[in-house]
Amino acid sequence: MPSPLLQLFTGRRGRRAVDTVVPERTFADVVLPPATMRTLEQALAQVRNHALIFDRWGLGERHATGLGLAFNFAGPPGTGKTICAEAIAHALGRDLLVVNYSVVESMWAGETAKNVAAVFKNAAESEAVLFFDEADAIAARRTAGARQAMEREANTVVNVLLKELEAFNGVVIFATNLAANFDPAFERRIRTHVLFEMPGAAERERIWQVQLHPLHTPLSADVDFVALAERYPASGGDIKNAVLKAAAMAAAEPGLDVGKRIHQRHFVQAMDDVLAAKAVMRQSILDDAPPMPVPVATPAPTLDPRLTLAALGLGAAGLLLGVAALVVAALR
Ligand SMILES: Nc1ncnc2c1ncn2[C@@H]1O[C@H](COP(=O)(O)OP(=O)(O)OP(=O)(O)O)[C@@H](O)[C@H]1O
Ligand SMILES: [Mg+2]
Repeated sequence: MPSPLLQLFTGRRGRRAVDTVVPERTFADVVLPPATMRTLEQALAQVRNHALIFDRWGLGERHATGLGLAFNFAGPPGTGKTICAEAIAHALGRDLLVVNYSVVESMWAGETAKNVAAVFKNAAESEAVLFFDEADAIAARRTAGARQAMEREANTVVNVLLKELEAFNGVVIFATNLAANFDPAFERRIRTHVLFEMPGAAERERIWQVQLHPLHTPLSADVDFVALAERYPASGGDIKNAVLKAAAMAAAEPGLDVGKRIHQRHFVQAMDDVLAAKAVMRQSILDDAPPMPVPVATPAPTLDPRLTLAALGLGAAGLLLGVAALVVAALR
């Protein structure tokens, strides 16, 4: 039987529960509103000073617990939470240990707490920045007097998480789409909450640009990022998908490669496709919902006419026999 830690890293059914990422993307690849960028810079300064105080100045050896730094990145999908976690790990020169919490939970029901502890152990040993993606469930409020097995497991996981956070002397980042549901004890241990919002038009214009290579991506003269940014109030993730789609469309056109360019029409078509696909996904999620039960009327029982006739016949025969018996009795 492989150890839980090994299972975590190898994963099943395609999606791995834990991934080690050697960070390549930096803050130069991220476009954020100035206020969000400032909060992130402060977070980074905290991490750097933390290393100075607790590692180089030796205070970590004097104070054994409560030394970790925990951050929560909250915001809608595709707003840059993962890329910023990577950028932070890059700035610190460490690997990023990405934990896909929903996979951990769904693969090993009943063993989640053990696996969470294993993940912290691995991060401590490899000095990686620990990143809990899709952490909504893990951070959820504990249920008082939990009766169901699942509620009890969720409570145990949060308790283990709090214990591990207390003992961990590194950087942990949680990414959540819903920040409202945090367990209060958990929230107390999180140093900084960073809110990732949908980008405004000015940010979108720069996001379109950072998705392309400044030198190698061939653009037609008609490309207008201001117009694209104003036309589509999309997330960074949508813009990334549209750029890749537009490039594929341009590359698939006939002609020599040297003459190929990405035109405005490619970007427009690609973003229309990306948004249409999202609409289909939303629709199919709704379609997959279990149908409302339709009340079925119970039909009134119907009588077979042949049975009715047979019953009447038997009744009449019985009556005749009765009369005949009376007549015989009277004659005697
Ligand atoms: N603010 C941004 N600046 C630059 N690129 C961005 C930004 N936001 C998103 N992107 C692009 O979209 C991709 C997806 O973003 P990312 O994975 O960081 O989103 P996320 O907030 O983690 O989403 P999810 O909640 O779905 O995990 C990134 O790899 C990047 O290319
Ligand atoms: Mg993400």
